[in-house]
This record gives sequence, C-alpha cells and structure tokens, in this order.
Amino acid sequence: MKKVILTGIKPTGVPHLGNYLGAIKPALEQANDTSFFFIADYHAINQTACAKTLRETTKQVACIWLACGLDPQKTVFYKQSDVPEIFELATILMGVTPKGLMDRAHAYKAAKDENRAVNMGLYTYPILMAADILIMNTAFVPVGQDQQQHVEIAADIAKAFNAVYGKTLVEPQFVIKRDVGTIMGLDGRKMSKSYNNVIPLFCDEAELLKSIKRIATDSTAPDAPKDRGHLIFQLYKHFTNTDLDNKIGWGDAKQKLFEAINAYIAPMREKYNYYMTNFSEVDKILSAGSTRARKVARETMDRVRKSIGVQ
Ligand code: ADP
Ligand code: TRP
Repeated sequence: MKKVILTGIKPTGVPHLGNYLGAIKPALEQANDTSFFFIADYHAINQTACAKTLRETTKQVACIWLACGLDPQKTVFYKQSDVPEIFELATILMGVTPKGLMDRAHAYKAAKDENRAVNMGLYTYPILMAADILIMNTAFVPVGQDQQQHVEIAADIAKAFNAVYGKTLVEPQFVIKRDVGTIMGLDGRKMSKSYNNVIPLFCDEAELLKSIKRIATDSTAPDAPKDRGHLIFQLYKHFTNTDLDNKIGWGDAKQKLFEAINAYIAPMREKYNYYMTNFSEVDKILSAGSTRARKVARETMDRVRKSIGVQ
C-alpha cells in the first residue's frame, strides 16, 4: 500500500511566496494517488474572528491550490470543516496528550512571550493538527520548517495513544525541503502573513513589482559583489534555477527578479483568476473531496472508537 501524504494550509490571509516555496510547491511535487491536501479553516478561527474574511480567505486558498497544479482526481482535496470526524478525534486525543507538550509548542510560546492574548484554540492547536494528520493514516507531512515541531507533536500523540490503547494510529513524519528553508520577508524577518512583510503569490503585476521594490537592501555600490544569501538572490534562484550575477545594482536586480517571478507565475495567476470567478466549480471539487476524505476518516474513527471502548 502506498504511504499517505497529507498537508494543510490555514486560511488566515493572502498566501505568499514563502507559503508557495516552503509548502505548496514541495507538497504538489510529492503528491501521489494517496495524497490528502486540505484547507485548515477551523485553525483559522483562533486568529480570524470575522466570517466574511474567513469565507474570502478560504476561497483564495482553495483557488491557490488548484491554480498551482493540484489535481483533484489524484489528490483528495477538501475543507477541514467538512470532515467532522476530525473534531471527534481531536477530543479523544486530548485524553492522551500531556499538558507539557502544549506548553512547549512554539506558536503558543511565541504568543505568550509577546504578551498576546492566548485562547484555548491556540493553546490546543497542535492537538487539532494531530487529528488532521492521524485521521487519514498519514505517513508523510510536507511542511515548511516552522511546522516541524507540530508534526513531531502529532507523532508523539500517536505514540502516546498507541501505548495506552494498542497500535491504532500511524505515526507520521515531517518532510521538509531544506534547500528552501525559511523565506525571509521584505523586512528581513520570516515572510509571514502575520508580519505584513509578504510578497503575495497572486497579486497583479503592479502590486508584485511594488512589493519587490519594498525589499530592504543595503548601501553596497552598484558594481560591488552583493551577499548571495540576500532575499533577492535567493528568490531569483528558486524561481529560475539559475544564479543572478551578484555584481548588479539593487534596482536592476529587483527588476530582473520581478520579470523572473512574473514569468513563472503568470500562467498560474490566470488559472487562479479563473477559479476565483468560477468558484462553483471549486465548490463541487471540494464537496467531492470531502466525501472521499470522510470515507477514510470514518474507517479510522471506527478503529479508534473500538480501541477506546465506546464501540
Ligand atoms: P504564515 O506564517 O504566513 O501564517 P502559515 O503558518 O499559514 O504561514 O504556513 C503555511 C505553510 O507555509 C506551512 O507549511 C509553513 O511552514 C510554510 N511557510 C510559511 N511561511 C514560510 C516561509 N517564510 N518560508 C518557508 N515556508 C513557509
Ligand atoms: N499548522 C499549519 C500551519 O500553520 C497548518 C496545518 C493545519 C497543517 N493542520 C495541518 C499542516 C496538518 C500540515 C498537516 O501552516
């Protein structure tokens, strides 16, 4: 039997180049006919308390997956909220998850350290993520580097469950493309929807150019060699597979980067715009995907319910 590959994206804002290079592209490259890709919409409610925004960002994330090449015949593609078994499993997993595991989770720690309000959704978020993963019998989870710990927690929870109730759940492993690592944002911090420092994946050309022009640079003279680790050179390499001459003025480098990214993205952007204006097609795809996803989820829940003694 082929090993299951699964990953999800939270609809908390407009997806950016970091999401594409770190998560979407590697996931699509690894997709086989037992892949599950989903929109993690219940994860977003810890951050987005606005129905209209959630509806819109969910729509965008769905269209992005399809525009980037997700094949819904091959891959099971669904919205987390359409698979209620996930939430039942999350409740059951609470019982085998030590509180200390949540205290160490970095999304919670970061919020606490920055004195941001912490709700129980954020605090227990790795348990829901574990349920997302474990319910589909996932072996491999392609994610960006910052999600490694959450997948490790999912494996720890599966191990804990199996130790208490006997082997029931598959223990997953993360898959991270180390050559991508973490893509930095316009301000030198990690590119993130939360930091307002992103280059959006599917904005129009003018906005793409504007974002690229905002990338922070230094005062190195135009013909002096520049740091190859700089975001401009990094992104150029990711999108063209070639190196940009580093003895180039920052202005010219930004123009070349814009042209490279724009050429790469244009056909996908066209598909994205198509799906956004013909969303009923996407809705149908998601609905068919949730039927397939629920079939697997129900089988897992049958096993789990028997293991814990409610069935
Ligand atoms: P964000 O930080 O923008 O909210 P998410 O937490 O929704 O992004 O991440 C979605 C996926 O994209 C995850 O697998 C994550 O590891 C990956 N990812 C997010 N930001 C980056 C980045 N700057 N570089 C590489 N991968 C990233
Ligand atoms: N936590 C992930 C993120 O912030 C999104 C996510 C939710 C996920 N459930 C998942 C990723 C299951 C992989 C597998 O990006």
